Amino acid sequence: MTHAVINLDLPGPTISRHLYGHFAEHLGRCVYGGFWVGEDSPLPNVGGIRSDVVEALRAIRIPNLRWPGGCFADEYHWRDGVGPRGQRPRMVNTHWGNVEENNHFGTHEFMHLCELLGADAYVNGNVGSGTVREMSDWVEYLTRAGDSPMVALRKANGRDEPWRVPFWGIGNEAWGCGGNLTAEAYTDLARQFGTFVRDHGDNRVYRIAAGGHTDEYGWTEALMKARGPYQAVSLHYYTTFPGDGRGGATTFTTEHYYDTMRRAQRIEELIRGHETVMDRYDPQVDIGLVVDEWGTWWDVEDGTNPGFLYQQNTMRDALVASVHFDAFHRHARRVVMANIAQTVNVLQAMLLTEAETGTLIRTPTYHVFEMNVGHHDARALAVHFRDGVPNRDGLDLVSASASTQNDTALVSLTNLDAEAPRTVLLDLRGREVSAHRARVLTGSHLQAHNTADAPDAVAPTEHPAVRAHPRGLEVDLPPHSYVTVHLDLG
Ligand code: AHR
Repeated sequence: MTHAVINLDLPGPTISRHLYGHFAEHLGRCVYGGFWVGEDSPLPNVGGIRSDVVEALRAIRIPNLRWPGGCFADEYHWRDGVGPRGQRPRMVNTHWGNVEENNHFGTHEFMHLCELLGADAYVNGNVGSGTVREMSDWVEYLTRAGDSPMVALRKANGRDEPWRVPFWGIGNEAWGCGGNLTAEAYTDLARQFGTFVRDHGDNRVYRIAAGGHTDEYGWTEALMKARGPYQAVSLHYYTTFPGDGRGGATTFTTEHYYDTMRRAQRIEELIRGHETVMDRYDPQVDIGLVVDEWGTWWDVEDGTNPGFLYQQNTMRDALVASVHFDAFHRHARRVVMANIAQTVNVLQAMLLTEAETGTLIRTPTYHVFEMNVGHHDARALAVHFRDGVPNRDGLDLVSASASTQNDTALVSLTNLDAEAPRTVLLDLRGREVSAHRARVLTGSHLQAHNTADAPDAVAPTEHPAVRAHPRGLEVDLPPHSYVTVHLDLG
């Protein structure tokens, strides 16, 4: 039995709800055909935004939405996406499928979407092919009240009041699609562009400098050393097999699954590495680490546009998500925001939709987000495995994290073993537990996933396999499963 000690009376840092953030790029069918169906669509919509998509996402309380990219952000010129839709210029989305972008979904549509979702806006500005003035004007257009050239333009486009935009990205992947820059060259640009991302009126902007990817610690170091006008540094890390054979989302072997989970658990090493650099320059933790792209990246589904990054989502993806959240919770002191890539129809999506048939499928990953809502803004509780956890060739087969708020606690337990069940003893100390209830997410096999014909093949159910123990609770974990245990504290 795996023995996990949790001191319920020793809460740690707050787990920001923004760790459960999202990402919507003009890529494939995320925006067009996903969120946006247009006002003339036969599908129920509010001003062109698909209603059932909004409803499904409200249930997982998405706290923020990053937009318009990604690589697309550094090609996007915001003025093309305001004003009467029919008159907006068209462009080619060169990064993603070389398809025409008609700019029908622009600034006003995005801010409307955020309002419908109840999510904070995270706008990613264009450094790679934009100008300082363009970015500065966009901030003014969005957030300034009173009178100014940009305010007049916004009003002419039908919106009198400014919006609240709390998060701003200064470019994206500047080491690659955002300009192929060196760390030093980008750091200078981040200082320059960041200076002109102004706080207008009461709107306080949290500026996020585009960080390195994976283990580019030198990039983080350059940004930290420079201490520019930004409040956070980002990190991108995908769970994938780079190169040509990333592997199919639903067609993988058990060994490939274990390799995947080893790559997913690497997020712990990477956060620690970037944290170590940040601690050296910022021991008081003024600068946040924002993991604003993470998730799985598989081969696209057969017959779909390779540039659209459309993939199915299985129990394997769900466990990649739960392992990431455990790491984010453990590092909540420094990791203040994270954005899974991406929300609808792209990469590790929450929802898979078809605009023609009106299909909407909640993926296994969606259910992990829903099961974890209780961690939002709760205080982290350390989980200590007294005798370690079972290990398979470097992979920890059990993962866990916990949090507490309002006289409750939530414990997350993942069994990564493909075949064997596990029992975890929750050794609960410091407070009485007056009641408990548990839920489980698993599938008949690792490749189990949801489809239009079987939308609930993988969905959470009540989990009665929890027993009282003199030290706390014994929890049975089926093979390849994710379990949450809710505790009422006396
Ligand atoms: O999420 C897809 C792409 O992955 C993003 O546009 C880019 O930032 C990253 O390389």
